[in-house]
Parts: sequence; C-alpha cells; structure tokens
Amino acid sequence: MRTARINKILAEGKAGDEITVYGWVKTKRVSKGFAFIVLSDGSSQDTLQLVVSEGTTAHEQLDKCNTGSAVRSHGILKESPGKGQKYELDAYELEVIGTSDPDKYPLQKKGHTLEFLREIGHLRPRSNTFGAVFRIRNLISDSIHRFLQDRGFLWVHTPIITSSDCEGAGDLFSVATSVKDSHKTDVPGGITYSDDFFGRRAYLTVSGQLEAEFLAMALSDVYTFGPTFRAENSNTSRHLSEFWMVEPEMAFADIDDIIALAEDLLRYLFSTVAAKAGKEIDFLYKYYKGISLDDIRSLSERSFTRISYSDAIGELAASKKEFEFPAHWGNDLQSEHERYLTEIVFKGPLIVTDYPINIKPFYMRANDDGKTVAAMDVLVPGVGEIIGGSQREERLDILRNRMVEAGVSEVNLQWYLDLRRYGSAPHAGFGLGLERLVQYLTGMHNIRDVIPCPRAPGTIKM
Ligand code: 4AD
Ligand code: MG
Repeated sequence: MRTARINKILAEGKAGDEITVYGWVKTKRVSKGFAFIVLSDGSSQDTLQLVVSEGTTAHEQLDKCNTGSAVRSHGILKESPGKGQKYELDAYELEVIGTSDPDKYPLQKKGHTLEFLREIGHLRPRSNTFGAVFRIRNLISDSIHRFLQDRGFLWVHTPIITSSDCEGAGDLFSVATSVKDSHKTDVPGGITYSDDFFGRRAYLTVSGQLEAEFLAMALSDVYTFGPTFRAENSNTSRHLSEFWMVEPEMAFADIDDIIALAEDLLRYLFSTVAAKAGKEIDFLYKYYKGISLDDIRSLSERSFTRISYSDAIGELAASKKEFEFPAHWGNDLQSEHERYLTEIVFKGPLIVTDYPINIKPFYMRANDDGKTVAAMDVLVPGVGEIIGGSQREERLDILRNRMVEAGVSEVNLQWYLDLRRYGSAPHAGFGLGLERLVQYLTGMHNIRDVIPCPRAPGTIKM
C-alpha cells in the first residue's frame, strides 16, 4: 500500500497502482450507479477524482462525505476518460475522517469573491486561488534562498526586536511590557522606558539592513530574510503592517553591483516560477488577468531598463498625462508616476537610480553632485516599487553630517559609526518586498491576498 500526496500520485503513479490518498472534498456528484468525488490536498493545482461505484462499502459512506470533509480513500489508479485529468481513482474504500456540515461550510460553491474569502482567512487556503498563491509564495521564498546560497551569500538572522529606526521614517511599533504607557516617553508618575523590559525604547524592526551591514563588514556577502514591521497608516493595496523582506548586503560593492544582483535575482525568480508553477500561473491569469506565463518567461530573458530619477521626472513632465500630484524634481515618485513609467512608457520592470538626497534615508551614499544619492528602486507594472536599495555611505564624516541633517541621534548608533572607523569599505544592498513580488507574479490586486494572515491598520483577525 502506498500513501502519497496527489501531486506525487499524478506525476509518478501508473495505471493499476493500488494507492491510498487523503484530502478534502471539493465537489461530490452522485449519478446512477456511480458517484464522483473531487479531492484536493493542496500539494498542487491538480485534484484527484474518486469514482465510487454502487454496491461498494465506499458507496455507503457517501451521505457523510460532503464538500469540505476530510477523507481517506483507497483504490486502483486508472487512466481517466475525462478531459484535463490523467488519472482517476477507482475507489473501493472511503473513510470520512472529518465531516463538514453542508448547510454551514462557507466554501460550498466556486466563484467566491476575494473580499468574502478574506473574511474566512482560515479556510481560504482551501480555495484554488489561495492554494495557487501560497504555492507560488513558497516557490519564490525557496528560490531566493537557492539563488543567494548558490552565489555564496550567508543567511544571517538579524533581530526582530531592535533599538534602531533604520529607515528613519518613524513608522515604528513599540515593544514594551508596560503596555498602558508604552506610547509615552517620560511622563510624570507614569512608566518610563528606562523602567521597562529592555531599559530603553525597543521596536519591531522595519528592516534588518543596519545589522546586515555589520555582518557584511565581516562576512562580505550576506542576506537577511524575515518579517519586518511598519506602523504606516496606509490602508492601500500595496502596504502591510507585517511583511517579509529579503535584504542582501555586499561588502566591497557599489551601486552597480547590487543593481546587477537585483536584476539577476529577479530574472532567476521569473524563470523558476515559469518553469515550476505553470499551472498556478495559468489558473491565476485566467481569473485575475495579472501576468501570463509567456510574459513571465520573456521577462526572465530580457534585461531591465535603467533610468535616473532626474530623467524619469523628465519623462513624466514631458507626458501629456494629468497626474493628481504633478511630478516635480525633489519629490518622491507617487504610485501613479511609477505606474505610468512602467505600464505606459517602458512597459516592464524599470530600475530608477540617483534619487534626491532629501527624500532618502541617512545611510545612502551621497553622489558627487551633492544633490542625489546612489540609490536604486525597482518598479514593476501594476504594483510599483518592489525593491529599494543603495550603496551605503562609508565615509565617516559625511555620514555623521547626514545624520545631523536627518535628525538621527548618534548616541545609539556608535556601533554603526564604528563600521566606518575600523576597516570601512564600500558596501551596498537592497530590500525586496516578498509580498509585492508575489503580487506581481500572481496578479493579486490586493497585497492582503498574498499573505496568510494580513496585518494592516485596524485589521488583525487571527
Ligand atoms: O524601500 P524600503 O523601505 O527599503 C528598506 O527598508 C531598506 N532598508 C532595504 C535595504 O536596502 N536593505 O523597503 C524595501 C521594500 C520595498 O521596495 C517594498 O517592496 C517593501 O520593502 N515594502 C513593503 N511591502 C509591503 N508593505 C509595506 N508597508 C512595505 N514597505 C516596504
Ligand atoms: Mg523604498
């Protein structure tokens, strides 16, 4: 007797094999003489159809075997006369392991809206859409590790609880045990941070970059890959309060080196997804019209367009399009600008470099023009920014001046300055937002539909 997941059964099984299969019932159809049960176990986009004949013990279980129930079946694999499936199971045993009340199970029918599915986040992975999304998310995560490991990068684990605000944007969640007063600093009669758990202010990290930097300044090529947290009050289709980021950091490297790394990584991920998740991509493209398998494949084969921020502003200014926020040198690119550039002008992923110094964090390396920094963002159609990175300021004096200008206190960042005092070297890195990339490749319009438990302002269910 052989027990295997449905993906293995379909890939490796032969007609005549005797097999045991476990899964959840997607549909049941009873006709004269036979019943057909479609079973899914999430191992792939494919399902396995059980054919249950009248007169077998399996047939006696049919009343209990409703959509959503968990079952075990045993039988003989045979070639299927039906379209779109290689095999079906001639099921002579059927055991209902966990019943599911047909009057109450929320996923009875097909074609639920994504909004409805978001309300039942604990059951939505059983839908075809979310099965596909979570398998692609897994494939991308695994492939990120493979790519970086193959290139000799070390996976370092930067902390989740930190005392520094890497991006300097102030979108921080505090970590405190004296919850009542955790939003306050020193208040008369109240609890102060020096009395709290860590003896000073602590936060959930917005980025592992600063710590990745000290590891790169010893181990050369490293990356951190984990959850990051931002208390931005932006209820958009592209922002989460908890999201995953992969952040490679390279010593003895400049902006061109990490642009090349970002492009190679993305193209590798595109080609892997095209090669290994074709069924998922086809399914999602059919229903959500994001990006087709052919388009993903061709993306993996061509290099990305690169443009400076100043030239991008020039493109936007020259366009006849009326933007809600007119593009103006010195202002950050708005989502409408990013979309116009990637969707209308360049029709594909775009790398924008050399942003104005005033709109970027203190750690980015100042260019010689005094006005811009060695920064780079990767923008894609439909989503906008998926990568943000830069060469880091390795010159002690310039870095200290930038910190003063940005209002970043040196007090807690002496260790960061030490990296510029002892064996400083050019280094660079970037952060790739996992959910934004999964959004791009799955065509999911809302970022809340590419993570199992989305967190956003006012939203925390499980
Ligand atoms: O551009 P960001 O803020 O860059 C950094 O945090 C750098 N410290 C990274 C580095 O150089 N090591 O964020 C990087 C990426 C963005 O391009 C975006 O894809 C994603 O993280 N991101 C978010 N994704 C979902 N929800 C949010 N609120 C996000 N904020 C950033
Ligand atoms: Mg950014």
